[in-house]
Amino acid sequence: QEVHAAEMERTFIAIKPDGVQRGLIAEIISRFERKGFKLVAIKIVVPSKDFAQKHYHDLKERPFFNGLCDFLSSGPVIAMVWEGEGVIKYGRKLIGATDPQKSEPGTIRGDLAVVVGRNIIHGSDGPETAQDEIKLWFKPEELVSYMISGEKWIY
Ligand code: TYD
Repeated sequence: QEVHAAEMERTFIAIKPDGVQRGLIAEIISRFERKGFKLVAIKIVVPSKDFAQKHYHDLKERPFFNGLCDFLSSGPVIAMVWEGEGVIKYGRKLIGATDPQKSEPGTIRGDLAVVVGRNIIHGSDGPETAQDEIKLWFKPEELVSYMISGEKWIY
């Protein structure tokens, strides 16, 4: 049981301040949950600007970096870790393209957002960023491994 849980893929997902303010927490969690992914960590935090800059360090040369970090630190964020087979790549699929104008209907950004600067959700874009972002946002003891009885119907 522990071996299975330890080897399962994990990704970092955050509902940004706009998603929280718009009352979309349950809607977003529900899409990951119904797919069959498992929530293994969750908390609500207001990130400092310094923390936001750490989270988005890869983008520090981009013109929108400062505004993006101001925005991420502007209010409560729901930080989560989701687990499941292919969750990193498929999580990005559930989220949709970065620009909501280009996100397909049926995706979170396609259905629920309009502009790139207010695209309501973040998801790690690969295995390395997933690991780094989980480590940045959570202490190891905040991640919970557990079995859900329904799992045998998914895997
Ligand atoms: P990025 O990591 O490229 O996209 P994603 O969130 O889909 O992984 O960019 C991070 C965030 O930066 C993005 O969600 C919204 C913001 N952003 C802008 O405000 N303007 C832009 O032109 C881009 C590319 C991103």
